[in-house]
Amino acid sequence: MTQASLFRRITDFANRADPYPLYEELRRTPVLHEEEDGPYVISSYWDIRSLLHDPRISSDAANLAAAGDELAEAQSTGLPPSFLRLDPPEHDRLRRIANSAFGPPHKPHRIESMRGELHAIVGGLIDGFGEAREIDLVDQFAYPFPVTVICRLLGVPREDEPRFRAWVDPLVATLDPETRAEADEEFVKSAQEARMQLGMYLAGLVEQRTKDPQDDMLSDLADSRGPEGAMTMMEVMSTAVLLLIAGHETTVNLITNGMLTLLRHPDVLHRLREDPGLSARIVEELLRYEPPVQIVPQRTCIADIEMRGVTIPKGSRIWLMLAAGNRDPERFKDPEKFDPDREDIQHLGFGSGIHSCFGAPLARLETQIALSELARRLENPRLVEDPPPYRQNAVLRGPRHLSIAFDALR
Ligand code: HEM
Repeated sequence: MTQASLFRRITDFANRADPYPLYEELRRTPVLHEEEDGPYVISSYWDIRSLLHDPRISSDAANLAAAGDELAEAQSTGLPPSFLRLDPPEHDRLRRIANSAFGPPHKPHRIESMRGELHAIVGGLIDGFGEAREIDLVDQFAYPFPVTVICRLLGVPREDEPRFRAWVDPLVATLDPETRAEADEEFVKSAQEARMQLGMYLAGLVEQRTKDPQDDMLSDLADSRGPEGAMTMMEVMSTAVLLLIAGHETTVNLITNGMLTLLRHPDVLHRLREDPGLSARIVEELLRYEPPVQIVPQRTCIADIEMRGVTIPKGSRIWLMLAAGNRDPERFKDPEKFDPDREDIQHLGFGSGIHSCFGAPLARLETQIALSELARRLENPRLVEDPPPYRQNAVLRGPRHLSIAFDALR
């Protein structure tokens, strides 16, 4: 195969189950630009990190649309762009207000205070396996868990939780580069419609919370009175939609990739069963070894940038290959080995710089509890199919199903 087809092979579904040999090949050309209108693909750990901290790289949706990104429109119409798709100073203002709704300094941290509730949700989902001795971890556990959590965090009534799935799915699909390349008018329209419907639903809820605040994040977002002022109604809606989407498939994939990796490393699974305290290290190493966000594809250069002798011209699109950087031998010893005992796990799984993952404390806690409880309660768990079938998406990568057989429930 020629170098010219490498980028296509990475997004090709045929390579979804194991893209890591391709990433190794990719790192040999750390600044790859194969097609005239195509993105510059960056794959070494230190280059990715430095670009994530570089103010000449923009996340602004308008810059991305100007650089020819087909679906920027589907993601940005209806509601104003969320802070994920904004540059400073607007990004910083909205992120700070959202952050204050997470808890400190005036309240105990909202996430930490959910620990008991997270345990109860996980326990309920595992009990729900009932008499079955084979389950699909995605549909029966990993998928419902984060949606339930984010709904509780925001303050969405329980009876409305199922409606979210119908809205969230088409929106998540717009993050997939292959879908983007093939997007027709109907697809763009359905994504816009889902975003709008979700927005309208949330608008009703925000209005209720403004009149009658509860102890939830939506009430705090609607009522921020800090030095930054409050968010407008549209900004609250946009932020709530962002929290719903950003924390959904990512967490599903971390839990599923996590169980898959543990079942392939039974020694580590056994240790986790004996010592749930190991879950923090395991989750960090998973974020390096099998990161749910493999690629950050939505960045634009707003000035010429020199990198490894290549000039990346102003206006170019940049793809940051987080999963390739995470296995860069210039950064990590034995990078292809899953090793929760490694001393230094400063992965790129949550990004880095001003856009680094806002929900990281929640994602960590959810996954630690999920994996340690699955390890504790499933007797003799084993994979039914390896590799499992994968989702289409190359950016948010993870199995579509993960069948696990076991002997009994503890
Ligand atoms: C940003 C990963 C869970 C909310 C990011 C970014 C990554 C990431 C890589 C950086 C994107 C960029 O630089 O453009 C993950 C992973 C998760 C996860 C792997 C689960 C395992 C969550 C959860 C939430 C969340 C649960 C919400 C509660 C956000 C938000 C941003 C973000 C709001 C944008 C931050 C900004 O632009 O300042 N996440 N995320 N994420 N994440 Fe997460």
